[in-house]
Amino acid sequence: MNIQFSEEKMNKVREIIARYPEGKQKSALIPLLHLAQDEFGGWLDVPVMDYVASILNILPIEVYEVATFYTMFNMKPVGKYLLEVCHTGPCMLNGSDDIIAHIKDRLGIGPGETTPDGLFTLKPAECLGACGYAPMMQLGKTFREHLTKEKVDALIDELRAQANN
Ligand code: FES
Repeated sequence: MNIQFSEEKMNKVREIIARYPEGKQKSALIPLLHLAQDEFGGWLDVPVMDYVASILNILPIEVYEVATFYTMFNMKPVGKYLLEVCHTGPCMLNGSDDIIAHIKDRLGIGPGETTPDGLFTLKPAECLGACGYAPMMQLGKTFREHLTKEKVDALIDELRAQANN
């Protein structure tokens, strides 16, 4: 894979870096990692992290430390649809364990695993700040709330249909 941001993304990179004082470019690391994850297949391979380090003129280890700390960054390939199911207190009390078990049964994958067709990855997540809508999951930039097994089934069917179009 050619690891190089598009010109459009590079403009965004420059804009983000310019938000911080001279010499403090490392502060742009997290937003740049988000951009990189979006741009290079949904996860942060080592060469991608090294590329981000080179842009910010920092050591690769400084990038690895941050990228591996936050669960929002994926350290291995994920499916086209990343089902991040919250399993923290309020979601757990409202049935997130059942939702996760149902997804496991329905898709035949465990936490952190991806379906053989590359469509779905199941990833239990810590509180996503939508406890009032428990149980919930994040799917890309959207939240799916008040989950039930029926809603999960409908969502999987919808995503499969979307992927086949
Ligand atoms: Fe699930 Fe907060 S506990 S969103």
